[in-house]
Amino acid sequence: MKVLLTRKLPEIAEKILIKNGFEVVCYEEDKLISRRELLQLGGDADGILSLLTDRFDSGIINKLDSCKVISNYAVGYNNIDIKAASEKGIVVTNTPDILTDATADLAMALLLGCARRIPESDKFTRDGLFNGWKPKLLLGIELRGKTLGIIGAGRIGQAVARRAKAFGMEIVYTNKSKKDKFESETGARKLAVSQLLKQSDFISLHLPLTDKTRLYLDSKRLDLLKPGAVLINTARGEIIDEKHLVKLLRTKKVFAAGLDVYTNEPKIYKEFFKLDNVILLPHTGSATVEARNKMAELAANNIVNVLKEKEPLTPVNRIRGF
Ligand code: GLV
Ligand code: GLV
Repeated sequence: MKVLLTRKLPEIAEKILIKNGFEVVCYEEDKLISRRELLQLGGDADGILSLLTDRFDSGIINKLDSCKVISNYAVGYNNIDIKAASEKGIVVTNTPDILTDATADLAMALLLGCARRIPESDKFTRDGLFNGWKPKLLLGIELRGKTLGIIGAGRIGQAVARRAKAFGMEIVYTNKSKKDKFESETGARKLAVSQLLKQSDFISLHLPLTDKTRLYLDSKRLDLLKPGAVLINTARGEIIDEKHLVKLLRTKKVFAAGLDVYTNEPKIYKEFFKLDNVILLPHTGSATVEARNKMAELAANNIVNVLKEKEPLTPVNRIRGF
């Protein structure tokens, strides 16, 4: 059986697949595989190990006649038309849990980086502008006693809240269901989103991208933010109205934003570059050696299981027979 890797991944992925007797074909370029190349290399593959940047719409999926599993090297899977995959009998899997700490660390780094104006301060120093300690130089915001609003209290949202609690923050959250254990652990309180936006000093987004969450923070909701709030997004860019966010950053209604993801990735709305009070990262939420190795291992093992007719470890759809 043949497995296509749409990009070179940590070695462990190929090792696992080869050890299990599969033929492994890897797209060797360090760039996005085109649709033509994907079908050329993987049109007859039994399994595909994909990146979050590979778009599997129904047009592509319907051409994958041998494929039994698409294993996405990410926790998010908005790049795959799950309905089309299910109809075609293809199992889709993702890599949850193992990147939770890495992503929560990065959200915290953005939060602290925004609160203490780290990139701006670094630039100031490198530009040779530091000419002595000053009482009012680059004043930021302290975390203790401030309220952090977690939008989406899943694994990553909860992990961010636990970190923030150690910094003395109060936690509020929105989520479909109430999370009792999380509440008793962190003292978090569940709020309606409008209340959360009005009450939080810091907001961190942890929703998956779906038709329901696209523009979840539209201009109306963004206008509810408390003056001087800080907004962190390590989820998906499409969840925020970026144009409106720029307006609020420009007038300092929003103190700062920390962004790891963008609506038209890898393109970035150019107005962001003109602002000092936004931190822009290149979608590196899960980019630690530890997380990427574990993701490679899990993604490969998901393919092994499906092709050996065993339960996939972390499926996102249900296919008869599994
Ligand atoms: C990263 O964005 C992921 O979904 O894993
Ligand atoms: C700052 O460096 C201080 O000593 O307060």
